[in-house]
Amino acid sequence: MSSTRTTVKTATLEKERTGTVVPHLQRQLANAFVLYANDKHYHWQTFGPLFRDLHLMFDDFAGQVLGTIDELAERIRILGHDIPITELRQMQEAATVHSTRPGQTMREMLEEAHANSLAVIKEMHDAIDAATGANDPGTVDTFTRFIQIHEKQEWFLRQALQKRDGLTA
Ligand SMILES: [Fe+2]
Repeated sequence: MSSTRTTVKTATLEKERTGTVVPHLQRQLANAFVLYANDKHYHWQTFGPLFRDLHLMFDDFAGQVLGTIDELAERIRILGHDIPITELRQMQEAATVHSTRPGQTMREMLEEAHANSLAVIKEMHDAIDAATGANDPGTVDTFTRFIQIHEKQEWFLRQALQKRDGLTA
């Protein structure tokens, strides 16, 4: 067999092997777009006695999640698959996290961000399981690093939602 045919066959096998992983990457790519838009909305709409901390925290979150987008998309391409979604509207439809809405209190924004964070962590666990099953250590590594970003954000949000801190309530 020629080296070209061997290369094509190897690439085809890789594509088949990683087929179960790609939906996880696509879903988290879509989620990252929505979470970025949400975090920026919270950043802009923050108000109240904790304004400075929350305003800055949500901008940090937005930057962190934005930093995951390129790697998630390029991982799909590395595995030999296309990214059919081109429009932001399609990203929103493919996402499993909830898009935020205007007019919320700070607690509602924090609770919404926290619920989305927990959902992404659960899905990234599933993604790591799928990538492990597909013998795809590169994707395992991607999600193992990214889940820690979301676990840390979940921790921040969980603590910010604590009551009876003795300072503000
Ligand atoms: Fe800003």
